Amino acid sequence: MLIAQITDTHVVKTGGRAYGDQVDTNGMLRQAIARLNAFAPRPDLVVITGDLVDHGTPEEYAALKTLLLELELPFYLVIGNHDDRATLMAELDYPHLSGVGPFVQYVVEPYPIRLIALDSTSDEHHRGEFCEQRLAWLSDRLAEQPDRPTIVALHHPPFDTGIVTMDALGPGWADGLNAVLAGYPNVLRVLCGHVHRSIQAVVGGRLMNVCPSTAHQVNLDLAAGAPNPARLAEGFFEMEPPAFQLHRWDGQTMVTHTALIERYRLVAPISREMMEAMATRGDLREMRKKDLVF
Ligand SMILES: [Fe+2]
Repeated sequence: MLIAQITDTHVVKTGGRAYGDQVDTNGMLRQAIARLNAFAPRPDLVVITGDLVDHGTPEEYAALKTLLLELELPFYLVIGNHDDRATLMAELDYPHLSGVGPFVQYVVEPYPIRLIALDSTSDEHHRGEFCEQRLAWLSDRLAEQPDRPTIVALHHPPFDTGIVTMDALGPGWADGLNAVLAGYPNVLRVLCGHVHRSIQAVVGGRLMNVCPSTAHQVNLDLAAGAPNPARLAEGFFEMEPPAFQLHRWDGQTMVTHTALIERYRLVAPISREMMEAMATRGDLREMRKKDLVF
């Protein structure tokens, strides 16, 4: 099974751009969708881990719906702190969101991997939040199928990344979440967004994975202490190449790949002679002479 992940699409109203007209988030999502549609082998599904839109307005969700019409793969949406829970639920009528509430949490069952989407957002602030109600729901869902390979997806990573501007998530907000997950080694990955970079951490023996954004990336500032106002005044985001991730499950191991949205030129074409030489595993010295070693 192949699970594609994109995140932090920050869609704005049709015709607009984000961050003072600087970032064409809608156009960049369209490029990401084209890349996913063309990818072979075809992913079984796409999970989009939050900050679906930039300001949580009806116009932005309308633009998101229009863009997602181009996505030819099944997709599942996770809420992020830029989203507005009530507006999202009112404007998006996808089957996987029907009957969901009061939080945007649901389970996707019909695949070899079980997907559990969580809502780590607050109506009051941009930080991560995971209350007792949401925690109890997660505990119940995990207890239903404790041996089945499962992926948990939520917007805020439940660990500190070292990027202090993004780590101000509130002390211990994810302690309960991590304590529950610790009891379920069948959870193969925790898929996150929010930090707009490729980041991995092992928490409680479990690989947690932050996916880069389809648009702007967060500047990689690992300086300790309070955020540097002079540095932030230069720009909080950096237009590094946008990317997506693929989580591949072969029934035994889950492997995560990070891939750039843009394609780059191919080099080192392999001839039929090279393929035969590699297949027969010929003499290493002879293969080196012919430049047949990879
Ligand atoms: Fe974001």
